[in-house]
Amino acid sequence: MKYGQFDDDKREYVILRPDTPIPWLNYLGTRDYIGLISNTAGGYSFYRDARLRRLIRYRYNDLPSGINGRYLYVRDEADGKYWSPTWQPTQTKLDNYRCRHGLGYTIIASSFREIEVEATYFIPPGEAIEVWSIRIVNHRTKVAELSLVGAIEFCLWDALDDATNFQRNLNIGEVEVDQCAIFHKTGYRERRDHFTFFACSEPTVGFDTQRDAFLGPYRGWDRPIGLERGKLADSHVAGCSPIGAHHVRLTLDPGEEERAVFLLGYHENRKTKFRDAEQQALYTEDALLKIAHYRTADVIDRALERLHVNWRETLSRLQVTTPVPDADRMLNTWTPYQCAVCFNVSRSASGFESGIGRGIGFRDANQDLLGYMHLSSDRARQRILDLASTQLESGGAYHQYQPLTRKGNDAIGGGFNDDPLWLILSTSAYLKETGAWSILDERVPYDGAEGSETSLYEHLTRAVEYTLTRLGPHGLPLIGRADWNDCLNLNSHTTDPDESFQTAVLRSDGTAESVFIAGLFCLVVPELVEIAKRRGDERAIRRFSEADSTMRCSIEAHGWDGRWYLRAYDAFGRKVGSHKNKEGQIYIEPQGICAMAGLGLADGRALTALDEVSKRLASEHGLLLLQPAYTRYDPALGEITSYPPGYKENGSIFCHTNPWIVISECRLGRGDRAWEVAMRINPAVREEMSKVHRCEPYVYAQTIVGRDGPDHGRARNSWLTGTASWMYVALTQWVLGIRPSYGGIEIDPCIPLRWDAYSVVRAFRGAVYNIRVENPDHVSRGVREVRVDGRAIVGSILPTFSDGATHNVQVTLRGEQ
Ligand code: BGC
Ligand code: NOJ
Repeated sequence: MKYGQFDDDKREYVILRPDTPIPWLNYLGTRDYIGLISNTAGGYSFYRDARLRRLIRYRYNDLPSGINGRYLYVRDEADGKYWSPTWQPTQTKLDNYRCRHGLGYTIIASSFREIEVEATYFIPPGEAIEVWSIRIVNHRTKVAELSLVGAIEFCLWDALDDATNFQRNLNIGEVEVDQCAIFHKTGYRERRDHFTFFACSEPTVGFDTQRDAFLGPYRGWDRPIGLERGKLADSHVAGCSPIGAHHVRLTLDPGEEERAVFLLGYHENRKTKFRDAEQQALYTEDALLKIAHYRTADVIDRALERLHVNWRETLSRLQVTTPVPDADRMLNTWTPYQCAVCFNVSRSASGFESGIGRGIGFRDANQDLLGYMHLSSDRARQRILDLASTQLESGGAYHQYQPLTRKGNDAIGGGFNDDPLWLILSTSAYLKETGAWSILDERVPYDGAEGSETSLYEHLTRAVEYTLTRLGPHGLPLIGRADWNDCLNLNSHTTDPDESFQTAVLRSDGTAESVFIAGLFCLVVPELVEIAKRRGDERAIRRFSEADSTMRCSIEAHGWDGRWYLRAYDAFGRKVGSHKNKEGQIYIEPQGICAMAGLGLADGRALTALDEVSKRLASEHGLLLLQPAYTRYDPALGEITSYPPGYKENGSIFCHTNPWIVISECRLGRGDRAWEVAMRINPAVREEMSKVHRCEPYVYAQTIVGRDGPDHGRARNSWLTGTASWMYVALTQWVLGIRPSYGGIEIDPCIPLRWDAYSVVRAFRGAVYNIRVENPDHVSRGVREVRVDGRAIVGSILPTFSDGATHNVQVTLRGEQ
């Protein structure tokens, strides 16, 4: 059963009823001002940092869910009936309802009592202003006397403090009201130089800034007293909970349409802080100019058009036409869009990430870059440098940094020994995409410390040294707190229920080793060797090639379990992920990462391991992380065994790992299998079972409950997952085989046998390639011929033109003979 449908031409997902299984979200804004918006206009906004600069208050664990956020009411003055045209919070049964989630905007339209209301939410490119543009039409045969009220609840900046520190916060709320603008200035009297404003384009007949005055005692947003009375209280907040509410009266003739705009903005006063220091009155002139600018429908429409053009241009850098529409709509629109969202907010703010828990993850951000690189290589470059500048002198890394300060921290744990290696992967992907080798010579500090700068290249070499100085008894990398699998905590052995698995003290003699990190090492170190070759760094070439070969030997000798790769050795030297274990016999991660690194390709081990993956880990809803799932808590394994069987790291379909198998199958040349694995978790394919899947059908979720859970097939933690980036890489670079390499784009498809042909338009290093791949012999892999602008080339790497022109590339496949 579906709740909506794709509109591919408009690049929108159209939701046809408001009561989706959970609120289905979209994101507004791409840089500093970011908003999360649900299909009923719930959600919140923040400026750069979801925790420290929260603009809209959001109540977690809210009931009914999806209530909080952007409130809009229409009141029929004839009889006082009022409703929310976005359904929440009044939940009035609307005569019709549509929500269109598009790229950086959301439109919610409904009608009730022959009054049509359409609200368009977006952020004009480059601005820190959220626009709610309202169109209201009277379809009655009589004049309609209406009220329109827009409201929000301000967050007192630090979202965690806001949700907990009432003894202080109920005393500090302050606002200023200037006609149609309400300025939220809590904290401005002391150290802040920023405020939020909530403004209305139309003359208002009333306002409120004190929550209690607007809602009335013991009432919720579903029945504000102000709406019941038809009159707001013109209240000025004193401490308590500051809100912004504007009341506009409208008289609409039959068929008449009116527009009104609400603006929610963030403003920093760089020069003048107070208009009148004596009165502590805000300097609002600059903010008022912005407000005046965005008042008119014309300006708003043009800003929205600019947003559309930006996205069209950004996405045009890679567009595909395959025989499978569900693949095309994901690859052309939704997955790169999700990659951009993950790049922007990492794992900090979503319907499942509260924005107060996690900042920008080192490992996560490096992987998110892989699918983002081609969309904006400038921003990618800056992110790589930011990440590197949080790296430690030892070559190790903090697990995350807070976006506002760009300082690494240990708030969610540290000592994840895989972390630093991911920096090599993102940097090499950047070099392959751009050919901009100068990034390697950028001077980058360690831990942000002035004077500690070295080249980025040296940062990469130190990441390798970090691993090499932390090898265990089998010559495999020590795992530290955990590796990619945050929950495989082999060195903490915690039995204290009040302790977080992620920050628990580690055994100082912890010798647990990770086969995953070993595989990751063999995936990234050859890249560094390649980079060293281009720099003529003989010492590095020698040292790192040797290290890579030695690591491969260690994996072959100690990382193979007979039919698949082992997962790890625990702190007592016991095998994890072995057929000898009772539970957790086979894990997906080492099978994927090792095959991706080319291990076992020559001797058949990769083939055996991947066959075991499809035999043991395949389910109707995707590939499981491990089997059998753990049924009891084991302190030697940590958080992974804290989850009930089938959930999260304990045997769910942890989607991030599935594209690794797609790539691995491609390395084996099995195009049909690769495709099958990818399509199992494709959200658009799963749209038909939305009732089971429950999350948005246009983006990947982190997990889908595995077959050991009672609600097998149910997705959780949508939006912020490395799945988007990896699946995008897997499908565009490995299946469709349009793969950036240091020397240019390499053509190396691995497709389903039945495909006749497909095409790809790819912008790359200053030229556009119009690529058509024909498959007359119905093979999966094997390039017979590549013609560029009509001429056959030698090999399968396209020449790099950088001439701003479009070049036609004709590829014909033929099986290996
Ligand atoms: C989750 C992991 C997550 C970690 C990060 C754990 O509870 O299961 O998926 O990466 O927390 O804090
Ligand atoms: C989510 C985390 O953000 C990511 O870094 C980690 O690799 C996975 N969970 C698996 O534990």
